[in-house]
Amino acid sequence: MNILLIGSGGREHALAWALSRSPLLSRLVCAPGNAGISELAECVSLDTGDQPTVIAYCRDQKIDFVVIGPEGPLVAGLGDALSAAGIRYFGPSKAAARLEGSKGFTKDLCRDFGIPTGAYGRFHDKAAAKAYLAGVTGRVVVKADGLAAGKGVIIPETTAEAEAAIDACFDGAFGAAGAEVVIEAFLDGEEASFFALSDGAEVVALATAQDHKRVGDGDTGLNTGGMGAYSPAPVMTPAMVDRTMSEIIRPTIAAMAKRGTPFKGVLFAGLMIGSEGPKLIEFNTRFGDPETQVLMLRLETDLLAALLAAADGTLSGLKLGWSADVALSVVMAANGYPGAYAKGTEIRGLAEAAQCEGVQIFHAGTALENGKVIATGGRVLNISARGRTVAEAQTRAYAAIDRIDWPGGFCRRDIGWRAVGRS
Ligand code: AMP
Ligand code: GLY
Repeated sequence: MNILLIGSGGREHALAWALSRSPLLSRLVCAPGNAGISELAECVSLDTGDQPTVIAYCRDQKIDFVVIGPEGPLVAGLGDALSAAGIRYFGPSKAAARLEGSKGFTKDLCRDFGIPTGAYGRFHDKAAAKAYLAGVTGRVVVKADGLAAGKGVIIPETTAEAEAAIDACFDGAFGAAGAEVVIEAFLDGEEASFFALSDGAEVVALATAQDHKRVGDGDTGLNTGGMGAYSPAPVMTPAMVDRTMSEIIRPTIAAMAKRGTPFKGVLFAGLMIGSEGPKLIEFNTRFGDPETQVLMLRLETDLLAALLAAADGTLSGLKLGWSADVALSVVMAANGYPGAYAKGTEIRGLAEAAQCEGVQIFHAGTALENGKVIATGGRVLNISARGRTVAEAQTRAYAAIDRIDWPGGFCRRDIGWRAVGRS
């Protein structure tokens, strides 16, 4: 089969790595890809926001199946456009991608179908939002309703900060995404990322992971897209996985089907595990980044066959094999991230680092320039490793990092600390 993978991050490098091992694959193309992906796939510079161009490319290149990595094209309806053109794809329709594209939509769905999440309100103006805030006793989180590239969530410490967050959203800090604001109760507990594959009716649990959202060691500093992850997440015991499936994932898949907008693709639940069990923080309707990097290192069955089954409605009976190993991935980011950062700095030593035992390097924001690997993004590399324990995977990943010569970048030195602390 000829596959077109859309995206350019570490998630897509990991997906390309898993897809490239599929016996079903004949040709893998990635748009736009990055320096690491170019070792596994042909990279093409398609404007993936331009749906007619993507369709024309698929027809011209005889693409059999399109795998859409990021949320942007999904929420914009690339899947629907492909489907209308008779091209198979992996991911949700535009209507189903609202589970990620509108936080208010998801909160209402949780309310209507009894799915556990924090109390909330949805607002279209400052006055109504502030009036709600005045009536809330506990801590709150203020969120722009729409897609804001991971930046639309503000966790205020005081009422004044919460009011400022409301003002910022409505004053356009997150563009159109902030035209509606969701205020929700702050949830206490330990976060985990949970993934399940659905074909619209059936649903199969994938694996669990834990991300590290803050930029600094010890979970300090600004929120980021994720500075590292490992899988499995010890907090997701088999009982907690069962509860997540029966209380959150299956009811959501059933609700979407009942509404006539069945969810096909990967449903990524951001969970808070507290004293009452799992509560939904948010859904994403795509694979997580950097969680996918660790999931793919543990997946033992053919990824392409699984994605095809989800797209074709034949997920029933699918069994996925996962390695008992732990996988851990450390994000190397450009100095300054998540604030302003320099682009174009050179990275050396990647080949030496890749030789470390159990290590796999995924590129997140790189390009090749005159044979040199250059940083082109905020999150740039995912140094990933497998090990029998989280401590072993962590030691291996950091041994590889210590071989990388990149003065323009940094990483957290404590990825996996919760799990290491438990063992
Ligand atoms: P999101 O982009 O919705 O995943 O939010 C980013 C991060 O903000 C999450 O990973 C959590 O760490 C935090 N967060 C969001 N909503 C809540 C909540 N209701 N309670 C506690 N933390 C939250
Ligand atoms: N790692 C969180 C996300 O992909 O949104």
